[in-house]
Amino acid sequence: MERIPVSGPSITQKEIDYVADAAANAWYSNANMYNDRFEKAFAEYIGVRYAISLPSCTSAIHLSLLALGIGPGDEVIVPELTWIASSAPVSYVGATTVFADVNERTWCLSADSFEELITPRTKAVIPVDLYGNIPDMDQIREIASKHKIAVIEDAAEAIGSEYKGRKAGSLGDTGVFSFHGSKTMTTGEGGMLVTDNENIYKRCLFLRDHGRKPGDVMFYNAEVAHKYKMSSMQAAMGLAQLERIDELVKRKREILNWYKYELDTFEGITLNYEFPDTKNTYWMVTLILDPKFDIKKEQLIKLLAERNIDSRPFFHPLSSIPAYENSTEAKKAQRRNTISYKISPYGMNLPSGLNMTKKKVQYVSGILMSILSNI
Ligand SMILES: Cc1ncc(COP(=O)(O)O)c(C=O)c1O
Repeated sequence: MERIPVSGPSITQKEIDYVADAAANAWYSNANMYNDRFEKAFAEYIGVRYAISLPSCTSAIHLSLLALGIGPGDEVIVPELTWIASSAPVSYVGATTVFADVNERTWCLSADSFEELITPRTKAVIPVDLYGNIPDMDQIREIASKHKIAVIEDAAEAIGSEYKGRKAGSLGDTGVFSFHGSKTMTTGEGGMLVTDNENIYKRCLFLRDHGRKPGDVMFYNAEVAHKYKMSSMQAAMGLAQLERIDELVKRKREILNWYKYELDTFEGITLNYEFPDTKNTYWMVTLILDPKFDIKKEQLIKLLAERNIDSRPFFHPLSSIPAYENSTEAKKAQRRNTISYKISPYGMNLPSGLNMTKKKVQYVSGILMSILSNI
């Protein structure tokens, strides 16, 4: 069996044709033709009024915080188990990240932990749709609105997921997406910010173009701001991927179900969960091992790599990584967030790229079970 990568996209002639067309034609008065089409189609798909194409999801979180007026002295609550991109922009704007615990079954932000951490300085919360799952957004939104806290839904990993019939990304004041090459749909690198709020939308358009008013042709900047734009070639790829989104999401769910079939009866493995009233699009097939195996994620990743299978660790608690571990907030979180610290050492992501086949899933599952049976 050739080496099996942990993630990767599905690219067809459609993507190649659209990108080639953008490279040939999206210039001069047509410079924005693919960005406009991509943004309009994306907003429609998510069910929101506005979408802004950006160079990354990280920049979408940064712009969200800026547009919401968050800055020095403010606190932003972020779940422990996520990629650092969910919290790094909090530092960019000079605010403080407060690390919250997760729900043991969804692996997403715990509404109870969120509520306990609110102080008069809390200005925003960033619930993360981890690995395609969605936290209890009704409860989170209710708590947030009671305390006048803005909600930035980090849907980087959850395109196509649904919560009570609404699409991931449409559940906060802003929603943010990543189109990194590992994601369910990709533009190579890229991101999108969505919102229903016209003021936030206008402020983001202004802030992402060096503080120019949209349509400004006099190069007359009103504020020092940022340069966060997606190229037309990336937008062309994004449009092609979005036109195939149902197929991509279907494949992700199929991959999870293949693994489930192989691994569900094996004692001591917990796979991604689909909470009632949600549709999980399983960006990464993820498992939590029973500690009875006495093997941690790092060792298992190494053993799989020796057999030509790439895998990834479950995100480490943010408060445990060198970037944060010595901060005052991290030290408090290390003692408090017991569920995150319990899950993470035994969690890992299995190969979930869109090129996975049933045969490859059977191979990976077989190797995994034989390793676990022999320890
Ligand atoms: C949960 C989460 N948030 C944010 C990001 C940042 O996305 P990007 O790499 O597009 O900035 C990622 C990407 O890996 C992510 O997984």
